[in-house]
Amino acid sequence: MKPIQVGLLGIGTVGSGTFEVLQRNQEEIQRRAGRGIEVAMVADLDVARAKSIVGTKVQVVDDARKVIANPEIDIVVELIGGYGIAKQLVLEAIEAGKHVVTANKALLAVHGTEIFAAAHKKGVMVAFEAAVAGGIPIIKALREGLTANRIQWLAGIINGTTNFILSEMRDKGLTFGDVLKQAQALGYAEADPTFDIEGVDAAHKATIMSAIAFGIPVQFDKAYVEGITKLESQDIKYAEQLGYRIKLLGISKRTAAGIELRVHPCLVPAKRLIANVEGAMNAVMVQADAVGTTLYYGKGAGSEPTASAVIADLVDITRLHTADPLNRVPHLAFQPDAMSNLPILPMAQVVTSYYLRLRVADQAGVLAKVTGILANADISIDAVLQREAGEGESHTDLIILTHDCVEAKMNQALAEMQQLSTVLAPITRIRKEELN
Ligand code: HSE
Repeated sequence: MKPIQVGLLGIGTVGSGTFEVLQRNQEEIQRRAGRGIEVAMVADLDVARAKSIVGTKVQVVDDARKVIANPEIDIVVELIGGYGIAKQLVLEAIEAGKHVVTANKALLAVHGTEIFAAAHKKGVMVAFEAAVAGGIPIIKALREGLTANRIQWLAGIINGTTNFILSEMRDKGLTFGDVLKQAQALGYAEADPTFDIEGVDAAHKATIMSAIAFGIPVQFDKAYVEGITKLESQDIKYAEQLGYRIKLLGISKRTAAGIELRVHPCLVPAKRLIANVEGAMNAVMVQADAVGTTLYYGKGAGSEPTASAVIADLVDITRLHTADPLNRVPHLAFQPDAMSNLPILPMAQVVTSYYLRLRVADQAGVLAKVTGILANADISIDAVLQREAGEGESHTDLIILTHDCVEAKMNQALAEMQQLSTVLAPITRIRKEELN
């Protein structure tokens, strides 16, 4: 049988990895897919560079629409990124009856509802394993492997750049700024790393996972997003003294009132496996009722790890494209007419525990006032650490770990504590998850 024909839109890091792995493992892939998979056409603005990667047997053009218009192409792989031209091209490919594979988490987190509806109407598949956690097959696991379960929560280290920065800050005691420069020099962070360090990239991925885990629409606009730019090395050290590591987590939880969807730095017990995921690696923990806790670990970015996910999607489509669309795996795991309308909860309604660091005057009664405010707000304290004041210092650091409470109550207590004349600097608040 003629190999299924693939058109790549963009042949940068992931595209070239996809081409290379498809070539190298073509025999093994064909044995799995039941049919060959062939890159027949590539669109890239840098035609000369693209030709140097794919050689003379593959047609290279500088206009993505020529790929979409080619009736021979069965699957369009969008590797352009962003939500501008990539969105138009994906919608045009769907309209042209092509199946689509994309690694574009931003596009799906923001415009997924429109894209999946268009694909459903047209009877084509949009596959996106590479959009979340690179080479880790987390989409497949959530959508198919865990399909028997009622998923309760998931928590993931889903941005390699920020995990690298946090690991280096902890290991070497460096500041955020110093490690960021290093991450850029090593090519981990983007030249403009804003989406990484501000938590936006992780929130895109968490949004997609929450939709598949709970059968809700993608709702990036409702996600709470806080990055790591304000994290200080001293908090990493204090957390360590208390038996915790600080990670940037993407979290989504099902509660009776709605779905929590949030990305923020988070204390995690050092003894949890996920707390020991270091450098640019990714990991996702999933808690589900039948299977219990599962953990998925691997490379979240890079040429061949991401290509591994893209090709898995190509194989899936090759196997399923002749199936009745109604019998295929739904894009978001749940049948489109069986989606839940559980709301995404505002951050004020989220329940979690906290790490607080207060710079306080080293005077009698300060601790009593602070703990009194927490007690009045019905917030229970889990642990307290007070740094001994240095010689000649009239202030000290008070570190408090709390038990779970609703965020609105913590906001109120923080505002009251901040008003105390003995609290000398803005209070640092970092959320904490026990993940047990
Ligand atoms: N910038 C992302 C990261 C790349 O650092 O994880 C993969 O999405």
